[in-house]
Amino acid sequence: MKKTVLITGSSGGFGYEFAQMLEREGYHLILHGRDKARLKLTLGVLLYPERHQCVFADLSSRKETETLIDSLAAMDIYGLVNNAGFGVWGGFSDKEGVAQADVVRVDFLAPVMLAHAMLPMLKKNKGFMINVSSLAAETPLPYMATYAAVKAGMTFWSEAIRAELKGVVRVVTLAPGPSPTGFRDVSGAPKGKGSLFSTTASEVVQASLDCLKAGGGYCIPGFRHKILWLIQKITPRFLSLSIMANYLKK
Ligand SMILES: NC(=O)c1ccc[n+]([C@@H]2O[C@H](COP(=O)([O-])OP(=O)(O)OC[C@H]3O[C@@H](n4cnc5c(N)ncnc54)[C@H](OP(=O)(O)O)[C@@H]3O)[C@@H](O)[C@H]2O)c1
Repeated sequence: MKKTVLITGSSGGFGYEFAQMLEREGYHLILHGRDKARLKLTLGVLLYPERHQCVFADLSSRKETETLIDSLAAMDIYGLVNNAGFGVWGGFSDKEGVAQADVVRVDFLAPVMLAHAMLPMLKKNKGFMINVSSLAAETPLPYMATYAAVKAGMTFWSEAIRAELKGVVRVVTLAPGPSPTGFRDVSGAPKGKGSLFSTTASEVVQASLDCLKAGGGYCIPGFRHKILWLIQKITPRFLSLSIMANYLKK
């Protein structure tokens, strides 16, 4: 039987990897993005492009998100990967309010709306959901304040529904640390030297699919991200706030 998976944000980064790995597992894909040319590049690296389809929506727009949801209503979806997202780097009061609010809309409101609309199908099909959160959810981040707060919301929401859906829909809450995707450039952060904890996008995505095969869970991919998580857990907040303010201010 044909099993279909919707991947939001498949025009780059983790989404590009999700598309290739999920295709290899035999799924038919609905590839979502905004950038038609980049989404075409994703389609172009797939083995059977004719099996898949592309959908477009700016998830910062409630209207476009609702239109996307309506267009998916007749499809029999087995899996949802809530991956699209971005962050805004810089002092909270220095950056545009609209951009900060868009982080909330794209990284949190849209996944909640999509999940709520898709869940009847996911339940019927005993399918799955992967919610891409972040280790940013574990520590307040000065100079990426809204992003970290939104990802904290994403992790709490995803973990709570994971418990609610146990035995019905497998849920993975994916919590990566730094990874070389388009994320940093989009956020506007300076290039910097890169991070000691950086882990490849393919390692991140593979870890989430391994976690899915094990029945779902909270997934910190790779040993570098696990070490980072441990450091976050044992560092007192006053210290981590000061370290991160210094690190991210530059
Ligand atoms: N890379 C990291 O270090 C890292 C770490 C932890 C978590 N994450 C999370 O991983 C997820 C994927 O990001 P990435 O690292 O792969 O970054 P990326 O390479 O910049 O990809 C982001 C994806 O999100 C889509 N997107 C952004 N804004 C959108 C909007 N308004 N409407 C619809 N789609 C939108 C982009 O689509 P278009 O290009 O077509 O607009 C793109 O496909 C995000 O949720 C991010 O928060 C990333």
